[in-house]
Amino acid sequence: MEIIKSLEQYVCSLFKEEGSGHDWWHIHRVRNNAVKLAENEGADKEITELAALLHDIADHKFHDNDLSIGPRRAHELVMQFADDETLASRVSTIVAEVSFKGAGVDTPVSSLEAACVQDADRLDALGAIGIARAFAYGGSRGRLLYHPDRSPRLHDNFEDYATDDGHTINHFYEKLLLLKDRMQTISGRKMAEERHAFMMSYLTQFFTEWEGE
Ligand code: ADP
Ligand code: NI
Repeated sequence: MEIIKSLEQYVCSLFKEEGSGHDWWHIHRVRNNAVKLAENEGADKEITELAALLHDIADHKFHDNDLSIGPRRAHELVMQFADDETLASRVSTIVAEVSFKGAGVDTPVSSLEAACVQDADRLDALGAIGIARAFAYGGSRGRLLYHPDRSPRLHDNFEDYATDDGHTINHFYEKLLLLKDRMQTISGRKMAEERHAFMMSYLTQFFTEWEGE
């Protein structure tokens, strides 16, 4: 699909210097894993790839927690680059279904393609890369690494999740450690397991060092 090449260049130029873990290489990894999952699951590879390229085009975290701007921007870009209303609407629905919205908030998907993009995005929040991204994002918001007197807070609505300014270790409990059991595809869940185990051992080491060996 011609649009994939053009959008890749456009998205890369927008995000190549982003410093909070939402840079072009995040999108690149999500795209690759999403396509791999689509192959395993029998999803449409091109739609999956296109939605993966556009999944963070206007993330709510950087737009006043507005969840509608990402899907809207994705729709506009597909129209601009391919002038195809059906494609634009399929891609924007996937983009709307990707984001995590709080520990107690369900994020169902309405297509196999959305399942692949959501899983691929969540895989990039796990493991060694997930840990790096969490601290990069926390740092970009001036957050503490950890505070021993502030115990984990979980959220049952998007508003509370999005406005919480807790320390970054809290983010492991409010999101990262929950993802393994919420993967939408069988192959995604398998890939999540090793990354989850790595984060568990990372936390054990973190708390051991925090307490002073
Ligand atoms: P989502 O749309 O599901 O939030 P993104 O691709 O935008 O997924 O990336 C989310 C990543 O941003 C998280 O996995 C984490 O690395 C980082 N992040 C988001 N919120 C926080 C937070 N409160 N503290 C630390 N990192 C965070
Ligand atoms: Ni993402």
